[in-house]
Amino acid sequence: MKNFLTELSKLDLAKKWIHEAGEFLKAHMNEPLEISEKTRFDDLVTNFDLTVQKQLVAQISKHFPADKILAEEDEDGQKVRFSKEIAHLWLIDPIDGTTNFIAQRDNFAIMLAYYEHGKGKFGLIFDVMNDNLYWCDDENAYRNETQLNVPNIDLQHSLLGVNAYMYRTNKAGLLDLSQHSLGVRVTGSAGISYTQILDGKLIAYFSNLQPWDYAAGTIISEKLGYVTRNLSGTQPSFDGREEVYTAPAKLLPEIQKYIKMT
Ligand code: IPD
Ligand code: CA
Ligand code: CA
Repeated sequence: MKNFLTELSKLDLAKKWIHEAGEFLKAHMNEPLEISEKTRFDDLVTNFDLTVQKQLVAQISKHFPADKILAEEDEDGQKVRFSKEIAHLWLIDPIDGTTNFIAQRDNFAIMLAYYEHGKGKFGLIFDVMNDNLYWCDDENAYRNETQLNVPNIDLQHSLLGVNAYMYRTNKAGLLDLSQHSLGVRVTGSAGISYTQILDGKLIAYFSNLQPWDYAAGTIISEKLGYVTRNLSGTQPSFDGREEVYTAPAKLLPEIQKYIKMT
């Protein structure tokens, strides 16, 4: 019982912090941005990514000083590595869809995921501009206070979320698979793509992602019968960038007819 209560309060705190971070972004996002390049001209970070990360790290460290944090904007050498040995681990993506944030001031999300000994306990994706918080407890997935339902799992009548490069190069057969769906959509934010899965607007999502991009979406979508796999069909490693997909477990045999690492 004690553990259950501790976990509930952690989730409630996480919801409060992510809402506060979203309010901060909305209040300040029209101020001039400080934009820096990371690895190349289209891999960008802003002062807002850094400030939101700092705010979330400060809250977690203040309330749970023994917990470890893997946060996107930490220097690579300082990043904690995902491990089952870590009792309490948070993953933070302070702004997912930074390019959208810069170019559109829309279609971005704040994401938090929490693990105990490698097991996902809860995830949160905050679609800031629509004021929609997607989250889960031990059993169910929610948009704000509305419980979400298991979606339609018919590929022929559904859309796929894809990474543009993987789609146009037919990576592992993705373009072939898409011919058996209604078509593809590219959003530029893993978090927003996961919200579209959770709302039943996409049946699956394929992209080249870091652990903090797929952690929250994976934990929440599991409550609706979704699984996340790499292109070989096994669990993602949570170690560096990897091509992964999230899809209904029941759809795996159909997906794996086309999606194969050669
Ligand atoms: C990126 C977005 C994008 C995905 C990239 C991610 P960021 O996250 O989710 O949709 O294609 O792989 O890195 O850098 O904006 O947090
Ligand atoms: Ca991201
Ligand atoms: Ca980010």
